[in-house]
Amino acid sequence: MFTGKGGVGKTTAAAATAVRSARAGGRTLVVSTDAAHSLADALDVPLAGGGPVPVEPCLHAMQVDSQARFETVWRELQGYLLTVLDRAGVDPIEAEELTVLPGADEVLALLAVREQVESGSYDLVVVDCAPTAETLRLLALPDALDWYMRRIWPTERRVVRTLRPVLGKVAGAPMPTDAVFDAVERLHAELAGVRAVLGDPERTAVRLVLTPEAVVVAEARRTLTSLSLYGYRVDAVVANRLFPGGDPWRDAWVAAQSRQLADVEESFAPLPVLRAPYLAAEPVGVEALALLAQELYAELDPAELPPGPPPVGVRRTTEGFVMTLALPFAARSDTTLVRKGDELAVTVGGWRRLVALPSALRRCDVTGARLEDGRLEITFVPDPAVWMSS
Ligand SMILES: Nc1ncnc2c1ncn2[C@@H]1O[C@H](COP(=O)(O)OP(=O)(O)OP(=O)(O)O)[C@@H](O)[C@H]1O
Ligand SMILES: [Mg+2]
Repeated sequence: MFTGKGGVGKTTAAAATAVRSARAGGRTLVVSTDAAHSLADALDVPLAGGGPVPVEPCLHAMQVDSQARFETVWRELQGYLLTVLDRAGVDPIEAEELTVLPGADEVLALLAVREQVESGSYDLVVVDCAPTAETLRLLALPDALDWYMRRIWPTERRVVRTLRPVLGKVAGAPMPTDAVFDAVERLHAELAGVRAVLGDPERTAVRLVLTPEAVVVAEARRTLTSLSLYGYRVDAVVANRLFPGGDPWRDAWVAAQSRQLADVEESFAPLPVLRAPYLAAEPVGVEALALLAQELYAELDPAELPPGPPPVGVRRTTEGFVMTLALPFAARSDTTLVRKGDELAVTVGGWRRLVALPSALRRCDVTGARLEDGRLEITFVPDPAVWMSS
């Protein structure tokens, strides 16, 4: 999955990676989940929304038409919301607008990505994601929803089912029907499936695209923190649009970019930093993309970059266990850790993740935590009382 700030070259890098993989003989699909149809522009092939389109041997490309998916999956929920809004006297046209959830079509696009991954037709699926913030929120959504579905949903569904006949009359608003509940449950199951594919560090890796400018690098850092927090594996940084030197104007840019690049190298270590020059023309079409990919990957296999450390790890010690969570760039003052039964809530700045504890750790007490070198280490010691009673 390629992500990064707007306009840095995500689509270009994703398409170039796909061309490279296909030309090395891997069956490859490049998918864009972005509503803007720039993947078609980068490859210079028409991609009508729908299924994968063949581009060259071994290479398919696909533009997810999320609008169509949005309509089928969301229709039942929307139907319910519309009746509620109608009773409340909201104008039908306004109601339509209100029931379109921002970002929901992106989530549904991810369902399509998973379908293609599970189809078994490809050795590599390259995803061109929407810009940073959105993708992040969306990637975290299955996690958040999962918590809700386990804790609140079963009770709510039971309560509503019992009270529906009574409440329907009193409140004047229709209670959600079983069809609504079924739709939500189906959607949840599908999202859990997406999360199982995208959140599996053995199967999925994220590449962060940036240009060597202070603002862009700063955002890439925050993205790395939150992706790590949510357990996604980032396997490389792509530094795009590097100026070649040659005259005083360009040399000044080269010097400025070199300072940023040194900073990128140092702060994102041990991630490899793949580099692409600022080309004289937009890299459009498979030939131009293949050349760009050659610059980026040189001898490397784009499908098999060396794995970095796992985002979450647990190791045994003489006293108990240590759980390690990669949290690059997180500041101590921004980070909080709360144990709630069999879950840990980790908050970094505005992001929060609930980590379900493996069963061995549920019977332990948290005895300490420290944040060092971008890693949060939490110490667990078995609680003798719990051990004896279980
Ligand atoms: N190395 C490069 N040299 C020259 N032009 C480039 C290079 N990389 C990308 N471009 C051009 O820059 C523009 C933006 O690139 P691209 O569409 O890949 O960015 P993006 O991150 O996907 O943007 P968005 O956030 O809008 O999706 C495109 O016109 C592309 O052809
Ligand atoms: Mg793009």
